[in-house]
Amino acid sequence: MSGLLAGKRLLITGIITDASIAFSVAKLAQENGATVVLTGYGRLSLVERIAKRLPEPAPVIELDVTNAEQLAGIADKVREHVDGLDGVVHSIGFAPQSCLGGGFLDAPWEDVATAVQVSTYSYKSLATACLPLMGAGGSIVGLTFDATKAWPVYDWMGVAKAGLESASRYLALHLGKQGIRSNLVSAGPLRTMAAKSIPGFEQFETAWAERAPLGWDLVDQEPAARAVCALLSDWFPATTGEIVHVDGGYHALGA
Ligand SMILES: NC(=O)c1ccc[n+]([C@@H]2O[C@H](COP(=O)([O-])OP(=O)(O)OC[C@H]3O[C@@H](n4cnc5c(N)ncnc54)[C@H](O)[C@@H]3O)[C@@H](O)[C@H]2O)c1
Repeated sequence: MSGLLAGKRLLITGIITDASIAFSVAKLAQENGATVVLTGYGRLSLVERIAKRLPEPAPVIELDVTNAEQLAGIADKVREHVDGLDGVVHSIGFAPQSCLGGGFLDAPWEDVATAVQVSTYSYKSLATACLPLMGAGGSIVGLTFDATKAWPVYDWMGVAKAGLESASRYLALHLGKQGIRSNLVSAGPLRTMAAKSIPGFEQFETAWAERAPLGWDLVDQEPAARAVCALLSDWFPATTGEIVHVDGGYHALGA
């Protein structure tokens, strides 16, 4: 077997359509020699149908990251397909409508709590649920949207992402002794299902089109997926708690 991820056993969450960033990650990972196990949330038969478009068949395990029972059972379910994990991809985000699109001042705590549980705390929950399968050299990778700034319309999702960025650093701190890395890819705007649920998302699209130094393709998930695969590989052995920007260089600009 050859390729950047030859022999790696990966658990990849977050496929809901073939535009999902996770779909591109799974495709590239398989093309580069990895064995991929997927998790799906909610519409499992849909996820299974999308998974059939991958180069290789990949099993799909049901996982709602807010469901403690499913989290507790995930290691055993994964073991039915592979004998351990070298990498875990967290490609999950959700916020109720009240939390997005300018409603920052009015969103109730219950909705904010949901956004934070699904988009932030779940990074830790998924990692600890998979720990029994992981050893030294393991890599956990998540997806963020630059949370160092307040964006129009992103609102509580931005706060959740700031928490995710911090949680990744704490995971790096707590898992470093076991030789396990935690890193994030900070992607520019991409037209996925999650993006479409953000009212006013087109503001990001225009901003990136006008300003990203390298330009930006809103429907090309591959650059972000490549960075995820690189972080899953053995080519970042001494990097943890890091955020790699894959945004056409937008983050580097001043106002
Ligand atoms: N699309 C963008 O512009 C963009 C930019 C930067 C970062 N991101 C991040 O990338 C990640 C993937 O999003 P995407 O853009 O590919 O959109 P997507 O809609 O394709 O993926 C989001 C996934 O989250 C899953 N999910 C939601 N609630 C869940 C739960 N309770 N348990 C398990 N899974 C759950 C959905 O099933 C879906 O597969 C998210 O963290 C998102 O915030 C997206």
